[in-house]
Amino acid sequence: MRVALVTGGTAGIGAATAEALQAAGYRVAVNYGTNETVAHAFSARTGIPAFAWNVADAAACRDGAARVQAELGPVEILVNNAGITRDAMLHKMSFEQWREVLDVNLGGCFNMCRAVIEGMRERRFGRIVNMGSVNGLSGQAGQCNYAATKAGLIGLTKSLALEGASRNITVNLVAPGYTETAMVGAVPPDVLAQILKAVPAGRLATPDEIARGVVFLVADEAAFITGITLPINGGKYMA
Ligand code: CAA
Repeated sequence: MRVALVTGGTAGIGAATAEALQAAGYRVAVNYGTNETVAHAFSARTGIPAFAWNVADAAACRDGAARVQAELGPVEILVNNAGITRDAMLHKMSFEQWREVLDVNLGGCFNMCRAVIEGMRERRFGRIVNMGSVNGLSGQAGQCNYAATKAGLIGLTKSLALEGASRNITVNLVAPGYTETAMVGAVPPDVLAQILKAVPAGRLATPDEIARGVVFLVADEAAFITGITLPINGGKYMA
């Protein structure tokens, strides 16, 4: 049974992904940042163990990955899902709002890949899926920080795909559109209504619909799919 680790995996798209992977027969662990109450409830409901660390902290990622591997075995599948928003127009954005989003969304992906990639190379197997966003493709007013990280993840994904290909390590990115999550729930209702008008499907995605893409990409049978961006956005932006 292959071992999968999902960061930011106790809620939203991460939780749906962890549960979909479990249902598909993987041994799953999730990481979370600080919300112990949500994490305990998630583990109690699903039986999936949850480990706390900050993905923006490189040493914490090394230690966290080591804890997961000691308990479950080598991480063969990594889903870099942890992400945050600090939305503001650039002329109102503080350096802290810029930095925090870069450190978690982009730095977190580097830190976690760095923590598991040597093992994947040695074992000559790995599946990495990074969580992008439609806004990394289209841009979004109020999200210069977030969109920059999500676009940056595409470059990281393609570069690491090149590095891993000869070792049977695939690296892909799923780019969700607006999805039924707390993150999207925090968008002002009038702004969200405007955004929804630009979604041909006329609705938000469900977290399960995003998880479907991840399960597809991490399968053993998906060995020849690497370096891609898989948009799941109801037609909002066709890259
Ligand atoms: N395009 C262009 N201009 C816009 C705009 C838009 N979409 N939205 C607002 N503006 C302009 C306004 O017209 C206004 O311009 P003027 O000052 O010239 O009149 C200016 O921006 C300021 O507007 P507000 O007073 O509303 O600004 P604010 O500071 O209160 O809020 C905001 C701005 C924080 C960006 C707010 O509009 C917002 O939260 N927008 C949502 C951003 C968004 O979609 N975030 C996605 C979160 S979910 C997610 O990230 C998941 C995922 O991957 C999809």
